[in-house]
Amino acid sequence: MNVDDLRLRLSQAGQEHLLQFWDELDEAQQAELYAELHAMDFEELNVFFRKATEGFNLSSQQEKVDARMEPVPRGVLGSATRDQDQLQAWESEGLFQISQSKVAVLLLAGGQGTRLGVAYPKGMYDVGLPSHKTLFQIQAERILKLQQLAEERCGRPCTIPWYIMTSGRTMEPTQEFFARHAHFGLRRENVIFFQQGMLPAMSFDGKIILEDKNKVSMAPDGNGGLYRALAAQRLVEDMERRGVRSVHVYCVDNILVKVADPRFIGFCTQKGADCGAKVVEKTNPTEPVGVVCRVDGVFQVVEYSEISLATAQRRGPDGRLLFSAGNIANHFFTVPFLRDVVNVHEPQLRHHVAQKKVPCVDSQGRVVKPEKPNGIKMEKFVFDIFQFAKKFVVYEVLREDEFSPLKNADSQNGKDNPTTARHALMSLHHCWVLNAGGHFVDENGSRLPAIPRLKDANDVPIQCEISPLVSYGGEGLESHVAGREFHAPLIIDERGVHELVKNGL
Ligand code: UD1
Repeated sequence: MNVDDLRLRLSQAGQEHLLQFWDELDEAQQAELYAELHAMDFEELNVFFRKATEGFNLSSQQEKVDARMEPVPRGVLGSATRDQDQLQAWESEGLFQISQSKVAVLLLAGGQGTRLGVAYPKGMYDVGLPSHKTLFQIQAERILKLQQLAEERCGRPCTIPWYIMTSGRTMEPTQEFFARHAHFGLRRENVIFFQQGMLPAMSFDGKIILEDKNKVSMAPDGNGGLYRALAAQRLVEDMERRGVRSVHVYCVDNILVKVADPRFIGFCTQKGADCGAKVVEKTNPTEPVGVVCRVDGVFQVVEYSEISLATAQRRGPDGRLLFSAGNIANHFFTVPFLRDVVNVHEPQLRHHVAQKKVPCVDSQGRVVKPEKPNGIKMEKFVFDIFQFAKKFVVYEVLREDEFSPLKNADSQNGKDNPTTARHALMSLHHCWVLNAGGHFVDENGSRLPAIPRLKDANDVPIQCEISPLVSYGGEGLESHVAGREFHAPLIIDERGVHELVKNGL
């Protein structure tokens, strides 16, 4: 340990307070703090802070952005409902790309899951489906099924590599979970874990915050930390080596996510896009989703924390929200585009600033939990790179088919929690059974009315769960259900059709 050298670097960067408790620490604590600080580039951090906070004033920023926002023009939009005649062609194109092993998926799983309030990675969460599958398992099985569908359609074996971004906190438990479950049947070498960077929380005057005498307050650098991590770990090269041409990037928390959705991939590919976003119609102005739009003619997402209520509430002539392209964090990027981002554009991206209540130590070294914001977190966002696209497209899908995020705990509020996620998946699967010609009956054998969509949060859907290993998006169910009547709870999996009550399960 060269403490003098470290002290010099710190004082040159105006961060010498980080060693203020040095003499009170025991040897192990000193070693810990030294290792943490030694690895930091303080000059770079100061630049990040300066750029991120330059002229930062949330309300005036909002006004400025609001005045420059325009909705997504019709010309770049494809729709799963309005363009029904194209869906087949897009799906075929997507399956073809997948069958050539040209498509990868990339999961953003470095978040801390603060709102859900669990101490383990969100992907390991079990929302209480009859099968008790976790989000990771559901996603893995969708990948397996899609590989199989592409192979059947195109007659050749294929691979969809799965890149999984974790953070310092989620890496170990995530890898350990996958190993314990034998990577859910995927080949180990096709599941590639990598770690994003972390950044310290800083006070409003640019001082790095200590959360304890020997520990800096660190948090992941936002899901846009992806690009720096791709560069640092040479993952674009890995994609190129594998022959991957395009990547579907998505968030861990959406239980309905269609990983590597062939229609989305096919749509973006046929349009010649290098970058694309999947959206659902935003219907409630205060829903916490970003909106895809143009600002000064450039495509971007204006995040829910960055749009003013007045703008979020604006309506178009048809009575719908003017900014209705709700970002569901499903993005399409070509690999050449990612290469340009990583090589050229990433360093130009500046961090977004979030004011936070950051637990810290006071001048006496006591740990305090502030009552009001005392510092900032700096984060890049995954969609910050839309502005660099040469051809950007937007694909609109139905919320009930594709979007039910898990953000909150059941106890917190009635939205985006384990119950709503579980219900959304079971309602969708109920629909699939009905569409394939199956029916549900009650305990007297009378057919239940086919009203699968839930009207409010207290409605309980028919319990029905279809394994992704049986059906990726509702296809291939006729042989299991057509003309048959079922009692819920119903599970359809690779071993067959199970009515849990009838079978006494
Ligand atoms: C995100 C989107 C928002 C969208 C919403 C839909 C971003 C910046 N915002 O918001 O526009 O409408 O989802 O549900 O994408 N993550 C990391 N590393 C981090 C932080 C987050 O990998 O440092 C991952 C999380 O694990 C998660 C995803 O990014 O998979 C989204 O993070 P979260 O904080 O939940 O985003 P939201 O604020 O809900």
